[in-house]
Amino acid sequence: MSPDINNRHLTPADLPFVSKLHAKVFGPGRFTRTAYRVREGTPPISPYCRGAFLAGRLIASVRFTEVAIGEHGDVLLLGPLAVDPQFANKGFGRALVGEALTDAKARGVCLVVLVGDEPYYARFGFKKVPFGQITLPGPVDPQRLLAAELVPGALAEYRGLITARTFGQSAG
Ligand SMILES: CC(C)(COP(=O)(O)OP(=O)(O)OC[C@H]1O[C@@H](n2cnc3c(N)ncnc32)[C@H](O)[C@@H]1OP(=O)(O)O)[C@@H](O)C(=O)NCCC(=O)NCCS
Repeated sequence: MSPDINNRHLTPADLPFVSKLHAKVFGPGRFTRTAYRVREGTPPISPYCRGAFLAGRLIASVRFTEVAIGEHGDVLLLGPLAVDPQFANKGFGRALVGEALTDAKARGVCLVVLVGDEPYYARFGFKKVPFGQITLPGPVDPQRLLAAELVPGALAEYRGLITARTFGQSAG
């Protein structure tokens, strides 16, 4: 990866550039996804979000939302992960997600969930959630509901609906 790349936490000031990148990568249909329903009303930039900057320009970003599953917190919902198509398959997605998971683990996050492609996310330790164990407020392909345990065995402790949490709220 080029030495001109700066991977760092995102701040609210980065939001316009994140929104622009999402529009470029996902198009207008992005707001209809079920994962967006969970994120509705949450701060768009949480302390876990990261971006990759090339000469100051945002070329990749990953967003995380603090959520609860049933009554239990210490969970993040990953997404969207977006890499500018011009820079795809150069390791930017892998670097961002890898660093973000290391950071989340250090901050005491137990579980990270997402809706995405297992063949891509398996490299980070994501695996399919057993059918029906965790639900979202809308339809999701169960083959694409994945979880990574940052604490070994954590997944077994989580059951129920994924809901957004407001910052600082303690759940279970
Ligand atoms: C999917 C995406 C995040 C990958 O990030 P990236 O920086 O381009 O990819 P990386 O460099 O981290 O990884 C590249 C590897 O992943 C593989 N890969 C990329 N997308 C994949 C997918 N959807 N399924 C399986 N493997 C995938 C590539 O073939 C490559 O494999 P290799 O290492 O064996 O050569 C990025 O291309 C992207 O933003 N795509 C459009 C939006 C999207 O689908 N986002 C994910 C859902 S939230």
